[in-house]
Amino acid sequence: MEFKTQKLLHGGDYNPEQWLDRPDILEKDLEMLEEAGCNTVSLGIFSWAVLEPEEGVFHFEWLEEIIDRLYEKGISTILATPSGARPKWLADKYPEVLRVDEARRRQLFGHRHNHCYTSPVYREKTGIINRKLAEHFGKHPGVILWHISNEYGGECHCPLCQEAFRSWLKERYGTIEKLNKCWNTTFWSHTYQSFDQIESPSSIGETQLHGLNLDWKRFVSFQTADFIRQEVRSVREGGSSLPVTANLMHYFQTLDYFKLAKELDIVSWDTYPTWHKEAVLETAYDNGMCHDLMRSLKGKPFFQMESCPTSTNWQSVSKLKRPGVLFAQSMQAIAHGGEGAMYFQVRQSRGASEKFHGAIIDHYGGNDTRVFREVAKTGRVLKQISELAGSTVSSQAAILYDWESQWAMNDSQGPRNKGLHYHEALLKFYRGFRKQGLNVDLVDMDCDIQKYRVLAIPMGYMFKEGFAEKVRKFVEEGGILIVTYWSGIADDTDLCYLGGTPHGLMDVLGIRSTEIDGLYDWEENSMIPEEKNSLGLEKTYVCKNLCDLVELRGAKPEMTYGSDFYQGYAAVTSHSFGKGQAWYVAADGEAAFYEDFLKRLMQECCVAAAVKGEIPTGLEITTREKDGVCYYIYQNFGTASVKIPVPEGEIQVIYGDIEKELPVYEMVVLKKQ
Ligand code: GLA
Ligand code: ZN
Repeated sequence: MEFKTQKLLHGGDYNPEQWLDRPDILEKDLEMLEEAGCNTVSLGIFSWAVLEPEEGVFHFEWLEEIIDRLYEKGISTILATPSGARPKWLADKYPEVLRVDEARRRQLFGHRHNHCYTSPVYREKTGIINRKLAEHFGKHPGVILWHISNEYGGECHCPLCQEAFRSWLKERYGTIEKLNKCWNTTFWSHTYQSFDQIESPSSIGETQLHGLNLDWKRFVSFQTADFIRQEVRSVREGGSSLPVTANLMHYFQTLDYFKLAKELDIVSWDTYPTWHKEAVLETAYDNGMCHDLMRSLKGKPFFQMESCPTSTNWQSVSKLKRPGVLFAQSMQAIAHGGEGAMYFQVRQSRGASEKFHGAIIDHYGGNDTRVFREVAKTGRVLKQISELAGSTVSSQAAILYDWESQWAMNDSQGPRNKGLHYHEALLKFYRGFRKQGLNVDLVDMDCDIQKYRVLAIPMGYMFKEGFAEKVRKFVEEGGILIVTYWSGIADDTDLCYLGGTPHGLMDVLGIRSTEIDGLYDWEENSMIPEEKNSLGLEKTYVCKNLCDLVELRGAKPEMTYGSDFYQGYAAVTSHSFGKGQAWYVAADGEAAFYEDFLKRLMQECCVAAAVKGEIPTGLEITTREKDGVCYYIYQNFGTASVKIPVPEGEIQVIYGDIEKELPVYEMVVLKKQ
């Protein structure tokens, strides 16, 4: 099912169930939503106790009235299934729905997002209410999309989940002998005789079998996806054919979002960057990369389901968003291919844990607040640029981001237990591409990589079956490949490859990685360009954390180490293979290295951005396309106004002023046929 909208969504999570005794407030909400240019709200996310106050007794009238009133005002509803938080009666009557933690303790009622995904009772009860909601609201013209649950996450170790895990393992391995082999269980005499003996990882039990840890994480993703599937199935049984989404979270480590996204028609995510913790530009790159990841999950438009209109209540410091940052954040979601920018929340609660979380309408309740004014401006601009809805982003560059590989890499002991700095490594590549105005996708090992010109594999620890062959083909056919240290080390079950690494790509890269040196925090080495290096690099760069030593097997050394016993060994190499090129970056170089290196390499290989000319620091340029039209979105995340490089040919200005310099946090949107 496609999610198609003519408008860019603007609005937020709305919790009228907290205000049912205040019709005056509900009336005010409607007025203010309209005034803030909101066209969509998410309803019913945590309403189960009001929707079904007793088992089998349903009260939907209040919700219906609100959906009707919103619709009359032109405001659409994204309707949630309420499984994110269960009512007390359900937990009391059916304790099996309560999650068991890894130390095997059954939780008491409380909090949210803490149910067992396996429990037949929880599946049945969510199924019933989802069906009823779908029967009642599934054809309402005001309802445009299902919001399935809320922020799926976590794991349950109850007996039901253990049983399901064992069946999943049986299905995966067939025999216990095969499992023992794949998990290398003879290590420390951990051999299993039957599947029934297997227990999920626990701090009071097994944590040292990496294959077990990895499979448990896979199972948790599988079981969560299965739960989503059953939620969606019940909505369909209720007669609704509306598309579905689930709100994902940042670079969430515990669920493989590429797998989860298969269950959704459109990806949405909750974005809470810590603006003003470091330079705004750095936060913008990190947030931009996450938008690109979310878009890449399905290779389709996504949207920002939640963001905070000002400060959150849960970050270590509740920093106010400086004037202009809310606008800039919302527009960044659109620039990167989003179909909307929504908030948590419409109205601030009076009590309980989120009473100090930012909202469009705060406790004061008026429209004469700094935050409300900025939300309203955002609403006006989203309307002005609404023709961007439905346009897509295409990228020439891709960076590998694979959940399973990360899980395995983070679980391993060595080569640097103090921190591998994987996220920073990704960001260094990302910044290097983005600073040249290139759109970037993030892909996992199952994605199609052939369509890209450049593929970067930073710390691709695990090479799943078939991946090396795919990458080889990519280079053979003319792709530009960049692989770094700590790549191609282990297989799908986290067994180390024998016979040399990066596994399957040694001939493509023309090197073999022989040893890897971990550096203490205070240590550094340097990367010195060879006199006749292919890219004309001139500077020496610092490298830290990890230095890989390679044996040259046909590759050309482009840079070498500056010190230690491996002084003079290759630190960066290049190799021609088929019609393409394969580069190896052996050490964790400083950010400036990646920027200069990628800039020269892209020039050398004629990978050009949509806009020619120097891109000033702080300027983000992204392009979206629709029906033969290209949209150029410029945003200034720097500290001073900048001049923007406009594309050649006839252009139309959709938003902003190209005669003047672009002020900080402002935006320009251009259109070119
Ligand atoms: C998450 C949840 C919301 C709310 C916000 C607060 O994203 O989905 O219900 O708790 O956090 O930032
Ligand atoms: Zn369970």
